[in-house]
Amino acid sequence: EKGGYEHFMLKEIYEQPNVIKDTYRGRLSSTTGIIKMAGIEDNIEKFLQADRILIVACGTSWHAGLVAEYIIEEFTRIPVEVEYASEFRYRNPIVNQKDVVIAISQSGETADTLAAIKLAKEKGAFVFGVCNVVGSSISRETHAGAYTHAGPEIGVASTKAFTTQITVLTLIALRLAKAKGTLSKSDFFRYLNELELIPDKVQEALQTNDEVEKIAKIIKDTNNSLYLGRGYNFPVALEGALKLKEISYIHAEGYPAAEMKHGPIALIDEHMPVIVIAPKQGHYDKVVSNIQEIKSRSGKIIAVVTKGDTQVKALADHVIEIPETSDALSPLLTTIPLQLLSYHIAVLRGCNVDQPRNLAKSVTVE
Ligand code: M6R
Repeated sequence: EKGGYEHFMLKEIYEQPNVIKDTYRGRLSSTTGIIKMAGIEDNIEKFLQADRILIVACGTSWHAGLVAEYIIEEFTRIPVEVEYASEFRYRNPIVNQKDVVIAISQSGETADTLAAIKLAKEKGAFVFGVCNVVGSSISRETHAGAYTHAGPEIGVASTKAFTTQITVLTLIALRLAKAKGTLSKSDFFRYLNELELIPDKVQEALQTNDEVEKIAKIIKDTNNSLYLGRGYNFPVALEGALKLKEISYIHAEGYPAAEMKHGPIALIDEHMPVIVIAPKQGHYDKVVSNIQEIKSRSGKIIAVVTKGDTQVKALADHVIEIPETSDALSPLLTTIPLQLLSYHIAVLRGCNVDQPRNLAKSVTVE
């Protein structure tokens, strides 16, 4: 059942090229520019007339929501807010009939997310679900939705659900951008083409596995770690840190790289591994300055860079090279080595990777 892999988590990490493809296959044609998802087509006016989009989710799904915030705002210019479902449901949020709420959930059973949906519906919002489990409570409770096609995710640590959620949300952003004319024709088609290249590039990113395992051996005994990224890769830093803490029990914090100097920089010394996401596209020069700040305080730098990078390579203790893509799609690639890193560290520490202590696959209690 683990298909020859030692753990479900590793199997699911390696399934990502296929499940990302499964998630956009039949929904997108890069030659005609048609993007078809019934849940969106049937309700497109609701999205186009929305004052804003509110995203509610928990954990990794919340991180996918943050990536989607950057993508949807950039592509469609529709304002997006992302909230923890557990906060949203108890704070008497301002929601009305002109809001579209997107609930993201792998299991479709998360209690807080379900409660947030019910509240949003009571307040008259249109609620759209992005779920993985077909027929789940959230998929039934929402007005419409689009499934991720990740297949069953058994490992408690979410991996392929995250990348397929981002894939669906990118398709939605592109569909809305097409309707609104907020992307130039050339950018629109460029993104479609790039999305179709992602599965092969994820495959290539998976080839960093041996290198990542070596790095895992070097840092496995640390008690603390910091993950930094900017822009589209800030949520990836949060996700990388969550993955490490939940399966290896190492304290990890994710931060927007520029926030480091507002506090966390005080933590940096020669014992602190700092994992920096620094792809060429994006705020590269800014991230390079952040790396210099870490280096001058003797932090151990592990950087995820674009293939062929020289500048970060000269500064970092270890680099992990991934293929190039546009800034907006880069989370689908940068997240791969971070998943592998947490996996190997957890295995080396003898942790129960697929069923970490104190955690359940779906959190059906609040
Ligand atoms: O099933 P959901 O996507 O609603 O689950 C949300 C979180 O419980 C989940 O992502 C959790 O954070 C994972 N264990 C993270 O790997």
